[in-house]
Amino acid sequence: MRAVVISQWGGPEVLTEVEADRPEPGLNEILVRVRAAGVNPVDWKTRAGGALIGWGETPMVGWDVSGTVEAVGPGVTVYRPGDEVYGMPHFPRQAGGYAEYVAAPARHFARKPASLDHVQAAALPLAALTAWQALVEGAGLQPGERVLVHAAAGGVGHLAVQIAKARGAYVIGTASAAKHGLLRGLGADELVDYRAQDFAEAVSEVDVVLDGLGGEVARRSLEVLKPGGRLVSLPGPGDVPAEAAERGVHASWMLVEPDRKGLEEIAALADRGLLKPMVDTVLPLEQAARAHEIGEQGRTTGKIVLTVA
Ligand SMILES: NC(=O)c1ccc[n+]([C@@H]2O[C@H](COP(=O)([O-])OP(=O)(O)OC[C@H]3O[C@@H](n4cnc5c(N)ncnc54)[C@H](OP(=O)(O)O)[C@@H]3O)[C@@H](O)[C@H]2O)c1
Repeated sequence: MRAVVISQWGGPEVLTEVEADRPEPGLNEILVRVRAAGVNPVDWKTRAGGALIGWGETPMVGWDVSGTVEAVGPGVTVYRPGDEVYGMPHFPRQAGGYAEYVAAPARHFARKPASLDHVQAAALPLAALTAWQALVEGAGLQPGERVLVHAAAGGVGHLAVQIAKARGAYVIGTASAAKHGLLRGLGADELVDYRAQDFAEAVSEVDVVLDGLGGEVARRSLEVLKPGGRLVSLPGPGDVPAEAAERGVHASWMLVEPDRKGLEEIAALADRGLLKPMVDTVLPLEQAARAHEIGEQGRTTGKIVLTVA
């Protein structure tokens, strides 16, 4: 099968297309014929220096996939060949999503939202599960609470805005001004142009902050939280501000996990028209390096997706 692998740690140019063995589905695994593969910051962070997976065999890159079940391994009862599924299998271990086939535990997938095509569905798993697990499960976001979503136009952010809105929250986002119209259309109640305004002065009395930026943004976010408020940090454990406890707020890092139940909740929201993935750029698998170049600029509105013919 065709697959894009990392030939060595480095820039986008180390992404190399190879002919690899088609994986076999083991016990409780399904073999998925990949139709589209989502691209995430963790993909280029891994490519640049092994953020999550170490060097051993040639690392295969990518986690988000949407496709069709080609075969099921012994013990699988939830899917049969021909079913359309989407997921983020094996994360944070190697999955090899930039390939024609992926084999992984059946319950790392869920049925693809019926209302979405494979490109739209591949835009969802990692980013939407992150937003779901951070806001709904981690922070326990309640109806009427005020949530601040940083990088609201990004892959995680634009889905977090919609998930928070669907939970009945009041949603505030940070984004450059050109993206405000789109975010209002997705349900944001209030937007801060972070280039023109200091968000920590523009926003206050927040119950939950979802921070995909880290550093100074994470530290200043403590100022906008109510006493007892919660900050969920995404970039890394080093971006959790140490002074949270002395300010009377909670701050923690979370790492997204494969989660069939969460994918089913996300699919249900999509099929009810409450969660729309925005796809910024679609490229064929062989242009994975170009996808990384675009993504690494950090200006993506929504997601980048690779199609796998
Ligand atoms: N812990 C986990 O499990 C987990 C899971 C998913 C993602 N993450 C991490 O979370 C971060 C975000 O991921 P992502 O997929 O959402 O990234 P992304 O799609 O690449 O984010 C791009 C967006 O960031 C916005 N942005 C950049 N600087 C900004 C600023 N100072 N203020 C407000 N918006 C800003 C850009 O909007 P403008 O063009 O308007 O600037 C752009 O729309 C990454 O570090 C990723 O690795 C962690």
